[in-house]
Amino acid sequence: MARVLITRRLPPGGLDPLVVAGHELLRRDDRPFTHEEIVDTAPAADAIVCLLTDRIDAAVLAAGAPRLKVVANVAVGYDNIDVAAAAARGVAVCNTPGVLDETTADLAFLLILAAARRAWEAESELRAGAWPGWDIDQHLGRDVHGAVLGVVGFGRIGQAVARRASGFGMEVLHHTRRDTGMVGWQGDLDRLLADSDIVTLHVPLTDETRHLVDARRLRLMKPEAVLVNTSRGPVVDEEALAAALEDGVIFAAGLDVFEREPEVHPRLLAAPRAVLFPHIGSASVVTRTRMAQVASENVVAALAGRTPPNLVSADR
Ligand code: DGY
Repeated sequence: MARVLITRRLPPGGLDPLVVAGHELLRRDDRPFTHEEIVDTAPAADAIVCLLTDRIDAAVLAAGAPRLKVVANVAVGYDNIDVAAAAARGVAVCNTPGVLDETTADLAFLLILAAARRAWEAESELRAGAWPGWDIDQHLGRDVHGAVLGVVGFGRIGQAVARRASGFGMEVLHHTRRDTGMVGWQGDLDRLLADSDIVTLHVPLTDETRHLVDARRLRLMKPEAVLVNTSRGPVVDEEALAAALEDGVIFAAGLDVFEREPEVHPRLLAAPRAVLFPHIGSASVVTRTRMAQVASENVVAALAGRTPPNLVSADR
C-alpha cells in the first residue's frame, strides 16, 4: 500500500481508482493544502494528486525525494509543475488529456458567441433595469456565422472548437509551428491574426507562448475582431489587451483564464466588451469527475510500476 497526497477536495468518485487499488489517501475536505503544507507532507507521500492551482516546484520535489514517484495533475495543462526538476529526480508527471476537450470547446464557443454578440453586457443592462425597450441600434454585435475563425494551437481542444465552427458556416484557419497538412493551416501567426474575424487560443503556456498575443499582435487584428482565450492567462498580455479594448483596437474579448488568477486585472474588469469567466472551461460534473479519475488512474499505474497512460515530458 502506498500513500497518496490529495491536495484538495475532488469530485465524488474521482478517487475511486486509488481506493480500489488499496492506497492510503492523505487528504482533508475542509480546505486545500497550502504550498507549505504540500512541502511538509511530501516526504510521507509516494504520489501527489494536485490541481493547476498547486505549485509543484523544486522545493516540493526535493521534500518528496526519494519516496515520491509520481505527480498527477488534475488538468491537461501542467505549467504549475516543474517538469524538468521532476525528471531530474525520476518523478513521473502526468496530466489529463482527452477527457475535457469537448467541454472546454463548448465553453470557448460560448465565449465566442457571448463576446461577439455582447450578450453579457446586454443582459447586465436588462438586470439593472436599464433596458429602455427594443431599439434598432442597441448592443449591435458581430456575426459569428460565416466569420473567419483563427484557431491558435490545433491540438484536441482547438480541433474540437473548429468542429463546432463548421456548424456555424465559419471558415477555419489554424496556426501551429509545424505544418499539420490540414486545410486552413497558416504557419505565420501574424497573418492568421490579420485574416481572422475571431481568434481563439489553445496553446499550452511555455516560455515561447508567454505573451504570445501582445500589443504588437493585437494591432495586427481587425478592429472588428474578437479574441477568446481558454488556454492560460499569461498567453495574452492583459495590460495590452485592456488597452486594445479601451482604444477600439479590437472589438471584444472573451476570457476564461487570467495572468494572476484569481486576481483579474482591474483594467480588464473595467474594459468595454470584455466577457470574463472564472476559469470554468472544463467545469461540467462529468468532465471534472473524469479528470480526477484519470489523474488517479495515472497514479495507480505509476505506483504499480507501469508507464502511466498520460506521462508528460519536459521537452514539449
Ligand atoms: C486544464 O485542464 O488545464 C484546464 O485549464 C482546467 O480544466
